[in-house]
Amino acid sequence: MMENLNTLFNKYDNKKAIGSFNVHCLEMLPSMLLGAKEIESPIIIQTSLGTAKYIGFDLLVSTMDTLANRYQIDACLHLDHCTDMNAVKEAVDAGYTSVMYDGSSLTLEENISNTREIVEYAHKRNVSVEGEVGSIGGAEDGLIIDEEQAKYTDIDEAIRFVEETQVDALAVAIGTTHGQFKSKAKINYELLSSLSENLDKVGLVLHGGTGVSDEDMRKCVREGMKKINVGSELNKSYIELVNETFPPALDAPLTSLRKLLNPANDKIKEIVKEKSLLFQL
Ligand code: 13P
Repeated sequence: MMENLNTLFNKYDNKKAIGSFNVHCLEMLPSMLLGAKEIESPIIIQTSLGTAKYIGFDLLVSTMDTLANRYQIDACLHLDHCTDMNAVKEAVDAGYTSVMYDGSSLTLEENISNTREIVEYAHKRNVSVEGEVGSIGGAEDGLIIDEEQAKYTDIDEAIRFVEETQVDALAVAIGTTHGQFKSKAKINYELLSSLSENLDKVGLVLHGGTGVSDEDMRKCVREGMKKINVGSELNKSYIELVNETFPPALDAPLTSLRKLLNPANDKIKEIVKEKSLLFQL
């Protein structure tokens, strides 16, 4: 079944945190849901607006619906970091079960006012909303937030934001960055534990899951993270695997593409399983 974040958070509270995986092309999607099926786990699939435009909102919704039914699992289709309010509403209308409106680059007042408008629109249609306070650094889908722009989430701002917007999930900046491969994230646990204590009505979201050690992941889940985003690791692994299978096929061009993609798809399935189990502690 396609579900929103609240339903997943409530139904799978015993599973601790749920993995939210960025899909980059349609080819990856069946393996991701099959991975969830094999470990009987719910899954969140998220798309950047760029990916959604590339594949199409309608095709993503119908494919997710088909796969969730085929594998009989609970799955959420979520729009990741969208700064365009019209596009967020378009995703809701198309059948996404969850959306993130990212107003973190605006003033707090503007962020609250825009996010509240999205929440009103989405909740009427049974769609959950993630917001962001503070700014998570790194590079994602061509958008670069450098170290100077990145900013830890302020507790008082986060409390006010959640109360005034009624968001279901909140992305917090606690030291992780998007697309971090070469080093490991340094997480501010003091900040995380006071965010957890003060924000018990909202699902906290850890962005920038690539580059977070397993030990840190477990600690973040124990400290209350409910949704954990992993994107770049999937992208990088896919590129690595097709880079192994494609070049030799240049000498055997009648080899079906399907066979060349299988190792990459299998790797995606393994990452989804490994991370989802890690997040369940
Ligand atoms: P990574 O690409 O660092 O895993 O982050 C994914 C993410 O947070 C998407 O919003």
